[in-house]
Amino acid sequence: MPQLAYVNGHILPLADASLHVEDRGTQFGDAVYEVCAVMNGRILDWQQHLVRLRRNLGELGITLGIADGPLTQQARRLIAANGHSECIIYMQVSRGTAKRDHSFPGGAPANLVMTVRRFDFAQRIRQLETGIAVITQPDNRWGRVDIKTTGLLPNVLAKQAAKEAGAFEAWMVAKGDGGETVREGSSTNAWIVKDGRIITHPTGTEILPGIARDSLIRLAREAQLAVEERPFTLAEALAADEAFLTSTTAPILPVVRIDGQAVGNGHTGPVVRRLAELTWKEVARQTGWRA
Ligand SMILES: Cc1ncc(COP(=O)(O)O)c(C=O)c1O
Repeated sequence: MPQLAYVNGHILPLADASLHVEDRGTQFGDAVYEVCAVMNGRILDWQQHLVRLRRNLGELGITLGIADGPLTQQARRLIAANGHSECIIYMQVSRGTAKRDHSFPGGAPANLVMTVRRFDFAQRIRQLETGIAVITQPDNRWGRVDIKTTGLLPNVLAKQAAKEAGAFEAWMVAKGDGGETVREGSSTNAWIVKDGRIITHPTGTEILPGIARDSLIRLAREAQLAVEERPFTLAEALAADEAFLTSTTAPILPVVRIDGQAVGNGHTGPVVRRLAELTWKEVARQTGWRA
């Protein structure tokens, strides 16, 4: 069966799916997106993704002429049409197609595209044993990285640097008065554990408010674990007992090396194991999916 995509109300073979060359997403990165996990054919944390998408559209003044109900139906229709029960769905909304000009075009409707890709979530559970390595890269992004735009060039370059270094992710680090602050990964949120306390950068304009991050904070607090939302430095991360990252496509992965240096004893620690248990139990509760 060929892969299918959604473009402005139509489902068609991925190979035939396209936007106009003057789509503003292509020319200006004038677009926002979401990536959602689908397990057992159900979309995880769908409402939270919708809320974030609407907020981002609002921040940029992009009008998407489709309400949440029909949008949900179209997303489900595309997932069903592709026939994968474990996959990710990518949704992108640009300001539309118009003659190239920086200022907003009047009256151009937004372009909505969606694609679906099969995804092996069970590999993330296997990776809990081995853990993953991260490197650090300077955070040279713009000042509103809380908005999930397709303008991802710094993230792309950071991820490529990680790949070339044999690491899974790059942690973006900003120089400040108190040392180098770890903000987040190129496509994941960053966490450390010290003396049983779970620490992650606060939301604001300096990180993307990850849906997986938010879920993990809620699950940890419900389990009476201490969570601190505060900036932490690279020195703290290197001296942490444990570290990990979260995202839609990597709900929780232990970080066992930072820039080649072992975190704690260099193996998956007890707090990350407990948080992984909580995370995957929540996935099963929402979707019925088990590895
Ligand atoms: C920069 C950045 N931070 C964090 C995340 C994690 O967000 P979520 O948990 O919503 O996938 C992403 C996801 O793509 C990201 O691009």
